[in-house]
Amino acid sequence: MRQGILILTALLVASALSAQPSGRKAFNDDWKFMKLDGGDLAPERYAAPGYLDKSWRTLTLPHDWGVEHPFKQVNPGETGKLEWWGKAWYRKHFTLSAEDLKQEWALGIDGAMSGAVVYCNGTEVGRRPYGYASFEVDLTPALIEGENVVAVSLDNPEKSSRWYPGGGIYRNVWLIQRPKLGIAPQGICVTMAGMDDSTPKVRIETTLKNHAGFTGPVRVTTSIFMLNDFQVSFREQTLASVTDGQVVVEEMPWPNLWSPSSPHLYDIFVRVEAEDGSSVETCRVRYGCRQTEWKPDGFYLNGERCFLKGVCLHHDSGALGAVWNEAVWERRLLLLQAMGCNAIRTSHNPPAPELLDLCDRMGFLVMDELTDTWTVPKKPNGYAKLFDEWVERDLVDLIRRDRNHPSVILWSIGNECGEQGYPEKWSIPQRLTDICHREDPTRPTTSGNDNLWAASTPYAQTVDVYGFNYKPHAYAEFRDAHPGQPFLGSETASCISTRGYYLFPVSDEKLEGWTDEAPFQVSSYDLYAPRWASKPDYEWFYEDQVPECAGEFVWTGFDYLGEPTPYNLDPSVLTNFHTEEEKEAYRQKLLSWGQKISEVPLPSRSSYFGIIDLAGFPKDRFWLYQARWRPELPMVHIVPHWTWPGREGEVTPIHVYTSGDEAELFVNGKSQGRKVLGPGEYRLRWDDVVYQPGKVKVVAYKNGALWAEETVRTAGKPRRVRVSAEDGLVGLYDWPKPVRRKVKDAVLPQAGDLVFYTVRITDRRGRLCPDADNLLHFSVKGPGEILAVDNGDPTSHVPFYSHEMPAFHGLCAVIVRRTGPGTIRLRVRR
Ligand code: GAL
Repeated sequence: MRQGILILTALLVASALSAQPSGRKAFNDDWKFMKLDGGDLAPERYAAPGYLDKSWRTLTLPHDWGVEHPFKQVNPGETGKLEWWGKAWYRKHFTLSAEDLKQEWALGIDGAMSGAVVYCNGTEVGRRPYGYASFEVDLTPALIEGENVVAVSLDNPEKSSRWYPGGGIYRNVWLIQRPKLGIAPQGICVTMAGMDDSTPKVRIETTLKNHAGFTGPVRVTTSIFMLNDFQVSFREQTLASVTDGQVVVEEMPWPNLWSPSSPHLYDIFVRVEAEDGSSVETCRVRYGCRQTEWKPDGFYLNGERCFLKGVCLHHDSGALGAVWNEAVWERRLLLLQAMGCNAIRTSHNPPAPELLDLCDRMGFLVMDELTDTWTVPKKPNGYAKLFDEWVERDLVDLIRRDRNHPSVILWSIGNECGEQGYPEKWSIPQRLTDICHREDPTRPTTSGNDNLWAASTPYAQTVDVYGFNYKPHAYAEFRDAHPGQPFLGSETASCISTRGYYLFPVSDEKLEGWTDEAPFQVSSYDLYAPRWASKPDYEWFYEDQVPECAGEFVWTGFDYLGEPTPYNLDPSVLTNFHTEEEKEAYRQKLLSWGQKISEVPLPSRSSYFGIIDLAGFPKDRFWLYQARWRPELPMVHIVPHWTWPGREGEVTPIHVYTSGDEAELFVNGKSQGRKVLGPGEYRLRWDDVVYQPGKVKVVAYKNGALWAEETVRTAGKPRRVRVSAEDGLVGLYDWPKPVRRKVKDAVLPQAGDLVFYTVRITDRRGRLCPDADNLLHFSVKGPGEILAVDNGDPTSHVPFYSHEMPAFHGLCAVIVRRTGPGTIRLRVRR
């Protein structure tokens, strides 16, 4: 065995990094697509290699047919009012030579919603019903020299999801070429093997595969590159011969550890080479070294207590539907990071693999979740139907896919599963935990639980880290009853609000922030929540009482399509109740609301839970969380805006969110008094302020010293449009002249080819008009096309693919895809 550390030239590193791991290539272009109008999938026809698919639509994956439909009022709110269900076919033609056929070939699908069956040249080669699972099918036996056809049928059943799942092959697809002698699929497992003084040791375990019958010597080389540096360390082992089996390497010559504040990564390349040169395969794993420990008093990262400041996220990309898009998610994570968030729960399903890449790179800790359901159904066609046959496969594949990500710290085996209430079914979570431990002894399991009774029973030990959904009042009792078992808030708050909407009078009753009549919006004083949930302050009160709580995952970071509670009338929310009496009482209440609002059809199609709205605009809560999660950042935020024509003389409470501990409020220069945050208080309130137009100013203090200031002024009439692109530059133009915002190559977001524009309606002084709802028309000049528009209004039925949209509380977002080099101009017209 040779080993060493080299300083290489930039050139050599660059060429090594561009190596394609495992011969994997994106296989997203030039698919043919056809959605069936009901009826049979008829594979004998549509999967047949000779079928003439020329008239089918040609498209590039990822693709979601749901978001291509208009919103339909008649569809239930939980669906997002978009038609994501149905049956469809995708076909793709590709050519292989006789030389190519000496290798093995697989098709990798990161996510297809749902019921995927894959055919190659007319023969079924694999299937995977769970729409969130990533899977690979071996094409090798069905391939021929010349033209080949893969066909994928999807059968996405209605009533299978409590939120918008999308429909189609909505994540990336790969064609993977593998030599017959090489590395087994998902065959590399990297784990921390401990610390050598202050240098981590990593164990790199490679499972080899020999389908070639090769009997000669094989060389296995492991190179570790320090990212953003020119250093590499390598080890070489020569094996006399290879049967299917494992090779283990232990080393890590550098001390840099991974953490959210310093997400230090390495690239590990494993190269397997037959000594006669007949076969070579290289595989890359991006890895970060970190030490994790779960103790009774919480989570420790690299020896230090690390509180999980997390959010739950559904998988949709807002206006792009379920389509995976790296630029959208990089932007989302940047926003969350600005808020102080350090953790993500991928509720309630396996995420796109690239989301974990982003979390590794940007420094997020991840609770990686399998499912929303075990065997007790929440929806008639949901995962419960697949559970018995598929759960082990889905779980094992998830773990093997994600186990090398430093960001992943927990496997979540399920969410609010009905089995909590039935002791005879607790063997199910126990079995899932056992599978996780078998596959990955380095990470604990958890689950999200809403059944308070179950927390005090042996059910709690079916996972390593107990997850409470909305039960902070139970933290202390749990700590005392289960000494030694870590726990966290797997879902917290579920506060609901609409950006820019405020309802008066302001009530502290959590159910009173909305009315059961138009406009179907929820007040943004951040006091309101459905019956089972709470304002953020309630959660924090208990977190502060019980410091052993390992952290929280707020429901949710962003608004998502579907589940527009409280305008849901969605029977699935009944899953939040444990007793039949509770359910019945709530059912009656829903019915009474339903009767009352039956004259006005419920328009809501997306959620109100987000701290940030669907279009990516922060709601007030963003600053409430920022105040708590970034105590070192001098900040102060005023709720609400101060443009209330017609409210003159009326009480208009002002709430202030600050990372300071005290503040003084001024309205038109007159002090409204200085207030101090008392124990258990998380916002400062001036509830008796009487509205007069003008200026509201708040001056915050910390430890007696000036800390931060904010001013809000009454805006005049809408006169101007301001357009900013992601680079933060702002173009100001007179209303109603067309507004143009140029974007040059230099401001492209790193991760992809999208440009995100924010369009703001302002008065002539440039102040945001908080109620402006002017209809805006968008067009692009230059190498770009409008991909989607959104204004964050959960009741809007303007399709995301439209090129016009009204502003909502003064704002609208436009997403443009760059189609070539050059300057893009966005034109906005009234
Ligand atoms: C929880 C559930 C989530 C979401 C949330 C809304 O009970 O786990 O998926 O429905 O309620 O508050």
